Amino acid sequence: MELIKKAAAILRQGGVVAFPTETVYGLGARVFDAHAIQRLYKIKGRPFDNPLIVHIADRNQLSLLAKEVPSSADKLIQAFWPGPLTLVLKRMDMVPAMVSAGLETVAIRMPNHPMALKLILELGEPIAAPSANRSGRISPTSALHVQEELGNSVEMILDGGPCTIGLESTVLDITSDRLCILRPGVITKEAIQSVTSLAVSYAEDPNAIGSPGLRHPHYLPSLKMILVTPDQLQDGSGLETFLDQKVLLGKRLGAISLQKGVALKPLIYNKRMTTLTDYAQNLFAALYEAEAAGVEVLLVESVPEEGLGVAIMDRLKRGTLSEK
Ligand code: TXA
Ligand code: MG
Repeated sequence: MELIKKAAAILRQGGVVAFPTETVYGLGARVFDAHAIQRLYKIKGRPFDNPLIVHIADRNQLSLLAKEVPSSADKLIQAFWPGPLTLVLKRMDMVPAMVSAGLETVAIRMPNHPMALKLILELGEPIAAPSANRSGRISPTSALHVQEELGNSVEMILDGGPCTIGLESTVLDITSDRLCILRPGVITKEAIQSVTSLAVSYAEDPNAIGSPGLRHPHYLPSLKMILVTPDQLQDGSGLETFLDQKVLLGKRLGAISLQKGVALKPLIYNKRMTTLTDYAQNLFAALYEAEAAGVEVLLVESVPEEGLGVAIMDRLKRGTLSEK
């Protein structure tokens, strides 16, 4: 609790603090402090056209941020907050435009993590927080990985242990009667559809202005990731394209697989996930580990694009060398 008080004091003075959420670690600043927000963008090296998510601990804080809360929000909030669902709503004028990269909207979520909630309550105000990585890199899911990413450029890192979900929240635009998933996450399209009678769809054009974050390459780890099928991992067949391109030749290889494991040898890093939930939870940590182990080419196993698999494949595709 002392640490949380200290963190809140730093935020009050315009500082930035990294803190845990159930999804990934966030890098927080006071939402109403434009200078602190500007510093946050600078520390991350984040382009100013990529808006931030604002974190609240109490539903009443919505009225500080959102001009109107459509009736469709009620059921979603009841079903999924606190939790990994971010709602895009019309922005109140008092929220600095920089928080929303100049958009008329603002993205808001209530994280399901005791430290995050306590920090917001202690500060008594919402906290704007992007993921606590340098722009273009992997979201950190442990305090150690935040330290590696941002080190001494932040005033404080609150350590809440490893994140239980491991992928960033689902971002859902509810400003019109057609709900639009801007970023898939563990709250799936099916789960959203089960609590609303409105149509739910994925953003068709990832370059659309409505989902600015997706215009930027999401992460480009220093290692090359190649998306492969379970069969390719089992016997190596079908990897000829990459051998032809000399992508694999003489490189330090690693693999992330699901269930069956990998028959390919030799590997200097080999992470086996047991379930889709395990895959989601540990994917980003595994990418950091593979990078630290010196892996040059990482083979990652693809999963069917349904349910939670949609979010996992979304992150894998953003980081991979495509076969096309
Ligand atoms: O799980 C999460 O959401 C984590 C934790 C820390 O809460 N945060 C996170 O923030 O992933 P960040 O900044 O890395 O990603 C925010 C995403 C970006 O894709 C951004 O474009 C989108 O949310 N976003 C933010 N405000 C938006 C808005 N007003 N309209 C559309 N998209 C918005
Ligand atoms: Mg991010």
